[in-house]
Amino acid sequence: MRDDPEGVSYLPPTRALRIRFDTAQALTRLFYREQSVVLACGGWTPRVAPLDHKAELARTAWESALAADGLRERVFELRYPSRFLDEQAEEPAAASPDDLRTLVAGLRDDYAGYLEAADELADGPSIRIVAAALSDKQRQEAALAPVELTDEDPARDPRYFASSFYWPDVLDPTYPYGEGVALQVRSAVSHLNEVWAVDTAGRILHELSPELGWEFTSDAARWLYDESRHMLMGAERLARWGFEPAQIPLGGYIYEACAGRDALYRLGMLGYFETKNIGRKRERARAFHEMGDMTSETDMEFDWADETLHAEYGRRWLRRLLEARGADPESWPAVLEECELLVQARVARATSDDLERIRTCADDLIAAAGYPSRP
Ligand SMILES: [Fe+2]
Ligand SMILES: [Fe+2]
Repeated sequence: MRDDPEGVSYLPPTRALRIRFDTAQALTRLFYREQSVVLACGGWTPRVAPLDHKAELARTAWESALAADGLRERVFELRYPSRFLDEQAEEPAAASPDDLRTLVAGLRDDYAGYLEAADELADGPSIRIVAAALSDKQRQEAALAPVELTDEDPARDPRYFASSFYWPDVLDPTYPYGEGVALQVRSAVSHLNEVWAVDTAGRILHELSPELGWEFTSDAARWLYDESRHMLMGAERLARWGFEPAQIPLGGYIYEACAGRDALYRLGMLGYFETKNIGRKRERARAFHEMGDMTSETDMEFDWADETLHAEYGRRWLRRLLEARGADPESWPAVLEECELLVQARVARATSDDLERIRTCADDLIAAAGYPSRP
């Protein structure tokens, strides 16, 4: 008991607590640092060559976006009924991959410090968010390789057979899509070549987030992560079947088609070209089922589930971007028409040599799988 000067007695404090508004401010600072991680990962994805480095940046972007989302919602709860974040005091710099690793290590330390000081009864919901974020940061710190940025745009994994057009049918519509083994191989090569979607998702995340705000950043980070999983599905199946990367074509003509153009078109490409075969995917999954290829079937089924989400992202964010730029949100079909023209123009620049190279590569790949493509 404590006596005050008036002679009244009070009970003493029983726990040392951080006050509610200080907690909100601490979580806000963590949010901005996670946001910097997400944006840096997106910007560097097209500039690192090894597929596993692209995939690690994509995963780090997604995990960090989940942490940031949790932190942001928690700040809103703590400030109820207001729903705002303090202005960002300073932009945490992540100008190089080394800065990114420093940022990740700093977040890991500060999450650990937060958990030590936090009070379970007062702040249990934050503890849950911070504990999950801490375990992600520990994983990222171990997994983020010292990545090397290249000037080539997009950076391509040099272990693979470089060909902008990753299958002959893009240039020669008479080249068969294939059945049986050829279909299995073609489908895995398509998955691998979603590398263009990975690079595109990273680009739009980085370039359009300032215009579209956090909710876009969060969707784009998931989009980026999903495309990186689709890419790895292809890489993994081809590796398990015993193919060497040098036998496997790796391209990116859709990404290249947008060179020098506004990120609006990259968003159009990702929202449209990447999802337009969505109906085909279930059909393919059934064909793989009949062949007893459970891996291709299941990869395709999960890919399909992701694509239904992506189709929605594409529709929503293309409209919002047009609106943000003072254009009619319903004018999106004109953007897609322009995307179609950009792809046609890229295809038109292909040479007969390009076609011959990719035809030979594809024929050899299918022959190596024990299935001759030419009668
Ligand atoms: Fe995909
Ligand atoms: Fe997609």
